[in-house]
Amino acid sequence: MFILIKLILLAVSALAGFASSQDLSITYNGFRSSDLSRDGIAEVTPNGLLKLTDAPVQQQGHAFFPNPVSFKDSANSSAFSFSTTFIFAVVSEYPTLSGHGMAFVIAPTRGLPGALPSHHLGLFNETNNGNETNHVFAVELDTIQSEEFHDINNNHVGIDINGLNSTLAEPAGYYSDGSGVFQNLTLISGKAMQVWVEYDGKEKHISVTLAPIYADKPNKPLLSLSYDLSPILNKNMYIGFSSSTGSVPTSHCLLGWSFKMNGVAQWLDLSQLPKLPRVGPKKTSKVLTIGLPIILTIALPIAISGIIYQVRIKKKFAEVLEDWEHDYGPHRFKYKDLYIATKRFRDRELLGRGGFGKVYRGILPSSKLEVAVKRVSHDSRQGMKEFVAEIVSIGRLRHRNLVPLLGYCRRKDELLLVYEYMPNGSLDRFLYQQPRCTLNWNQRYRVIRGVASGLFYLHEGWEQIVIHRDVKASNVLLDSELNGRLGDFGLAKLYDHGTDPQTTHVVGTLGYLAPEHARTGKATTRTDVYAFGAFLLEVVCGRRPIEPHPPTEDAILVDWVFSCWNKGQFLEAVDPNMGLDYVKEEVELVMKLGLLCSQSEPTARPTMRQVVLYLDSALALPDLRSLGISATGLSFASQEGFSDFKLSYPSSMDKPFSHASSSAAESLLSGGR
Ligand SMILES: *[C@@H]1O[C@H](CO)[C@@H](O)[C@H](O)[C@H]1NC(C)=O
Ligand SMILES: *[C@@H]1O[C@H](CO)[C@@H](O)[C@H](O)[C@H]1NC(C)=O
Ligand SMILES: *[C@@H]1O[C@H](CO)[C@@H](O)[C@H](O)[C@H]1NC(C)=O
Ligand SMILES: *[C@@H]1O[C@H](CO)[C@@H](O)[C@H](O)[C@H]1NC(C)=O
Ligand SMILES: *[C@@H]1O[C@H](CO)[C@@H](O)[C@H](O)[C@H]1NC(C)=O
Repeated sequence: MFILIKLILLAVSALAGFASSQDLSITYNGFRSSDLSRDGIAEVTPNGLLKLTDAPVQQQGHAFFPNPVSFKDSANSSAFSFSTTFIFAVVSEYPTLSGHGMAFVIAPTRGLPGALPSHHLGLFNETNNGNETNHVFAVELDTIQSEEFHDINNNHVGIDINGLNSTLAEPAGYYSDGSGVFQNLTLISGKAMQVWVEYDGKEKHISVTLAPIYADKPNKPLLSLSYDLSPILNKNMYIGFSSSTGSVPTSHCLLGWSFKMNGVAQWLDLSQLPKLPRVGPKKTSKVLTIGLPIILTIALPIAISGIIYQVRIKKKFAEVLEDWEHDYGPHRFKYKDLYIATKRFRDRELLGRGGFGKVYRGILPSSKLEVAVKRVSHDSRQGMKEFVAEIVSIGRLRHRNLVPLLGYCRRKDELLLVYEYMPNGSLDRFLYQQPRCTLNWNQRYRVIRGVASGLFYLHEGWEQIVIHRDVKASNVLLDSELNGRLGDFGLAKLYDHGTDPQTTHVVGTLGYLAPEHARTGKATTRTDVYAFGAFLLEVVCGRRPIEPHPPTEDAILVDWVFSCWNKGQFLEAVDPNMGLDYVKEEVELVMKLGLLCSQSEPTARPTMRQVVLYLDSALALPDLRSLGISATGLSFASQEGFSDFKLSYPSSMDKPFSHASSSAAESLLSGGR
């Protein structure tokens, strides 16, 4: 466990001993070598836990950041915004009793001289409590009800301004994000919990949020108070913590803390936090003499919660690693790293989701590389060795129109695939979230040619044939220069050249699924070409291959394009959002090529080699009429006896980013066997 202290000081203010207001950013993941200024009985344990108070009764402890912090430009201006978060635990020797509490505090002096323990929380005394000359702001975690200060109960969180009579207080708990239901928390449970305190200097608003340690920060704060802190906060203040005990021996512990002026407090790294104490190690010998009942009633529940906490951390980062995987060294990621990279896979980092799993954005802790991490649930016993071998060889593919697959990580029932992050997200967002983002014809044409070239490389450009199996707009990602890159190789199956593709269960997405693929379950380069055809029409027309709620009768895109072509009115089908600024010949070429690839007879479809040549105008497109192409020759899997497809058309296709592919087709087909 080490401590990360990031403190940026302006040269001038550093000389004067002042932390710069604009840049102050403090992070303590554990306090082992921290420079905090402590008094009272506050101490740091060898493993980095900051114990503000420990065991003795009627005592107090303080820990403050040693330098004063500027909260304003000048004495009369308004206070800056700030944000802080900390992880704490109140560990009592008795399961249901403790006291008195602890507080985050901003004060004009370091260490609050003259303050009293017990119900004064080490913040105030009888004479100065409530006096506006105090200039003290605090957030209390109070575990004893003090009538004197009109406390609401013995388990509450309160905002204290200049006194212990809280300006606003609520019972400890949080609003869960999903249901919005309030969940009680018990401050003295001995469990670690996290608090966020945020002040918006513009809106003059304070919010305080509490959550169990492993939960994401709830969206709805516990306390929300409109209050201007400018008159309370002096220009320079000290920030820190206070706590006090009463008659029950109690440890008030801090595991981590971060503070940021004019910004969001840095996220605390759970993997680096110190372990919580197990109460009563010194008492082992006494325990034997006093007897079992006391162990059971006192020590055991606490020891168990300590063990559970450790087991949870261990389990949290558990991954599966077998001998044969050692060859894949650089392609294997540590689960812990991915966990940190994605900030505990929290919802805010979610890029998209689909039938196969969720995709999260992350930043790898060591290299700072931005990645997209896809979590796929997977039966680890089934062909995992082969699958990982494929993943790793796919990871060796390099082409500028493919999203690099960096590696993988394995857990019990889960596989995590790590891709390079594509800043512009997926192409379908540009097609369907118009007019907010759209692409003009030149950009679309470039994407089409890029994807064609990437797919050609997969089919013919490498030592093995790679069949993508899920070519579609939502699997085409745009890099920073809006180049189209084919992503999501998680589903791809690899075949050695010359071998016959085995029948495997069908993956792919309805509308892109070639009829023979749905029928036989065999994915081939021809089925990829079919999907590519659907993709071409999708990009030109700005419509999905099958509309779940068609505006007209033409729910099936290829039928509609065909009827337009048949009437000699191709351009009717062009995406109106593209405007009129397009090259008619190119649009026609792409549409015809789309129809050509969509033929139900696999051998009638061009190869990707031919497709690339057509798009480069190096080869003339055959005349569709001379090929005798007809409406019946253009066919969808849905017309081959899977009529319930339309009903279950996957809604996940509407998601803005979808490495994760929707797979109604898969579940229907595999379930139906
Ligand atoms: C600050 O405000 C007080 C009264 O509100 C005034 O007397 C004083 O001159 C002001 N100081 C500055 C630097 O503006
Ligand atoms: C209360 O605290 C103040 C400092 O905040 C100190 O000056 C004062 O002497 C204290 N009063 C008592 C009675 O201890
Ligand atoms: C607040 O404190 C100041 C200075 O310590 C003192 O002069 C004043 O009387 C106090 N006010 C109240 C209401 O106690
Ligand atoms: C504390 O607040 C209550 C009501 O919220 C009020 O009646 C009481 O006078 C306050 N006491 C002090 C010392 O501010
Ligand atoms: C939360 O605690 C309060 C007060 O102790 C109680 O009334 C309420 O029923 C509890 N809610 C839940 C969901 O446990």
